[in-house]
Amino acid sequence: MIFNNLKNDTGFYIPMYNKLGFKSYVTPRLLGDIKLDYHTYLLEPTTEIDLTSSFFSRHVSFYVDGKPHFLNGNSESQQTDKIDVELGLLYQKVTRHNKKFQLDVTTFVPLDALMESNVITYQNTTSKTQRLKVIVATPLYGRSADNLRDHRHVTSLLNRVEVLENCVVLNPTLSFDERGHKKNELNYGVYASSPQLSVEGYYPSLEDYVKNGSLQFPKGLDSLVQTGDYVEGKEALGGISFKTIEVKSQEVITLYFNLGINHSKEQLISTFNKYSQSKTIAIAFEEVKTYFTKEVSKLQFHMKNLEYSEKLNYIPIQPILRRFQGNSYLPHHDYGKGGRGWRDLWQDLISMIMYNDSECRSLLLNNFAGVRIDGSNATIIGDKAGEFLADRNNIVRVWSDHAAWPLLTTKMYIDETGDLSFLLETQTYFDDQFTHYTKKTKTKKSTNHQLKIQNDTIYGTVLEHLILQNVVAINNVGSNGFVRLEDADWNDGLDMASKKGETIAFTHFYINNLLVLAELIQKLETPKIELFESLTKLILNKNYSLDIFFDDVHDFTDNKVSIDKEILASELTKKATLVLKQINKYAFMREGGLQSYIDNDGNFLDSSSTLSLTGQTMALLNQTLSKTQAKKVSNVTKKHLFDRMIGGYRLNSNYQDVKMNMGRAYGFAYGTKENGAVFSHMSLMYAYGLYQYNFVKQGREAYQTLVNQAFKDKSVVCLGIPEYFNNEGIGKYLYLTGSATWLLKLLRTEVFGIELSFGTLRLNPKLSKDDFIDSIAVIKTYVHNKPLQVTYHNPKKLEYGDYRIASIQMNGKEVINEFQSIEGDLEVYLDEIV
Ligand code: G1P
Repeated sequence: MIFNNLKNDTGFYIPMYNKLGFKSYVTPRLLGDIKLDYHTYLLEPTTEIDLTSSFFSRHVSFYVDGKPHFLNGNSESQQTDKIDVELGLLYQKVTRHNKKFQLDVTTFVPLDALMESNVITYQNTTSKTQRLKVIVATPLYGRSADNLRDHRHVTSLLNRVEVLENCVVLNPTLSFDERGHKKNELNYGVYASSPQLSVEGYYPSLEDYVKNGSLQFPKGLDSLVQTGDYVEGKEALGGISFKTIEVKSQEVITLYFNLGINHSKEQLISTFNKYSQSKTIAIAFEEVKTYFTKEVSKLQFHMKNLEYSEKLNYIPIQPILRRFQGNSYLPHHDYGKGGRGWRDLWQDLISMIMYNDSECRSLLLNNFAGVRIDGSNATIIGDKAGEFLADRNNIVRVWSDHAAWPLLTTKMYIDETGDLSFLLETQTYFDDQFTHYTKKTKTKKSTNHQLKIQNDTIYGTVLEHLILQNVVAINNVGSNGFVRLEDADWNDGLDMASKKGETIAFTHFYINNLLVLAELIQKLETPKIELFESLTKLILNKNYSLDIFFDDVHDFTDNKVSIDKEILASELTKKATLVLKQINKYAFMREGGLQSYIDNDGNFLDSSSTLSLTGQTMALLNQTLSKTQAKKVSNVTKKHLFDRMIGGYRLNSNYQDVKMNMGRAYGFAYGTKENGAVFSHMSLMYAYGLYQYNFVKQGREAYQTLVNQAFKDKSVVCLGIPEYFNNEGIGKYLYLTGSATWLLKLLRTEVFGIELSFGTLRLNPKLSKDDFIDSIAVIKTYVHNKPLQVTYHNPKKLEYGDYRIASIQMNGKEVINEFQSIEGDLEVYLDEIV
């Protein structure tokens, strides 16, 4: 994507990473940090606030005829620089022009090296010869993000900084952690070389370079040292100064500026040297583009118009980015210490399923090892498979929606693959000190987080894990009969109503889940299902309460018992019907909209003048409403929550109150994040629900308003869609949002009608007239592990509702709309309904 003459770059950045774990992000001002993980930052960790004016990043000064100019453009004379930016998969190219020079910088992370490459060219664009001096002065941070404030000075005392040819390397003695210091093994380095410039000397110490001045106006320029110099106990600077040279009119100077981390100093240096050759860099750059383009090619669309399609086709990189970046490493996503949350884990798998990723099955199975025997789950999942933690910051919470998502993802996997046998795979249960939905603790816990009876590890089928999660959740109801909110649900901000709070929204989800489980159980060939005894009691025995269940599994000793699958399915259906009655009786408001929550005082959150989108979304998404009810819900929701100017459906009305009896969300300014912003994730799931009821016009309006907002320059969303839009329609929290998955799922399943059920594909397009370009709309996707292109032809320009599939051709032959296997691309011809 090219942004010429970018006027507002605040909020622009692009994440970069490679599979070795190297992560970085960069803004058009070359700000942003670089790290391997939370404890190994090469450049000082940055958040949103640091992205406009910091010098503690990729700082390079260009003295032109004695006057300083900066790579980040923060000198006075550069304030009117013209900036052109190209963002791609995954790189940034910036061109900065002014009356004196043009600076071009290409930044990317090679696929196979623990470093970031920046190729900088300086061109004298005047008609006169200039005297140019270049000084790279990039502070090396080299430690944990914790030390940004905690022991900042003490950790600088650990620093050992070495000056080598063309680079400065920081190798702290220890990795500081008061719970147990570790010997530091990592080397953090800054490298610079140029075919035209020769090194004058180095500045390894920040203090000596700045010397009562600043990084902009250093007063220690005379503190230059040479190769072999060594500094201890000071903040490190990747300071490399080049001799002044004369640059003729139009002449170009190139600078290779690399930033890297490595366990081995020798490897760090050899990597730096390797990436100081223009040929190597050019090859590596092409490899990066090819690799990430291939990643997104797994799901591509041709619809509406070419520009729209181009922008849309960047979105498949978002779920991939989230998988590798977690939620901790971008300027807005600055929470936690790496790892991903339980909910996000399952959401990200949805896109992997759509991409037919070969790792899906094992990752899915692996995730079930995070379920506790009481139906709750570990909440933070580390980078490695099977790494689960109770929570970040060791605060234990139960999110009432957590148990709902695994079934949605698993059902999708089964529908895509037909792999019903997956349900009978076995997996362990997560064990730590927590029992009773984390309300109590036990003294006896296993050492490896796997539940055991004496020394025997307990296994249960995937189906058992799923039944356990959903049956416990739907039995865990408050005094109004809806699922207890616990410490929050999907909305992380509803975290202050754990006593009396209830989530009507997710009650819909669990109702549907019981019905889905019943369907799955009936499809299985085996006549009997094995479950552990307490779980069967919870399902079959009316007098057996959840409290007794929690007591019984506290010190788990259960045997397995078999239940007839018909009885099991019918009990689950009965329970779902019962709870749905409760919704129908109490959850509807006057105009036909739904209540979403009950607060900590036991009162419904909404009045007739307010509404929350979550309840409406979950009802539609889980199809718990009749068509008439759904129609009313959609009308009321539009009336209360639709705001065309900022991206469509807001998350809630303005309660004009901090609502201490609901959660922190309502402490946020109205129109931001979980308090009434256009929150993409929920808006898109809402649009999905509308499509499921075939309310295509409203569904299309819901998602297109959001996508169009993201694609407007005004929203400052560089690529993809953001987590939310604020009151000004500005997109926030770029790239790492679960909403990207939902947009892709919406387009693939509902709009383009790639509908799979137990492995069988039936096309069911819900494309609108305006979704076609010259009467054609195309999706490229994977089905049954094979690439598939489906081209819809709509020569009569018919609107959704007026067309039917008249014929489908595969390899030139007419085929019927039911595919157990895919042997070629599909040409689908639409015609009037006769
Ligand atoms: C984020 C979190 C997601 C949570 C949501 C609402 O959404 O990742 O788990 O449910 O906030 O609190 P996202 O950034 O994925 O759009």
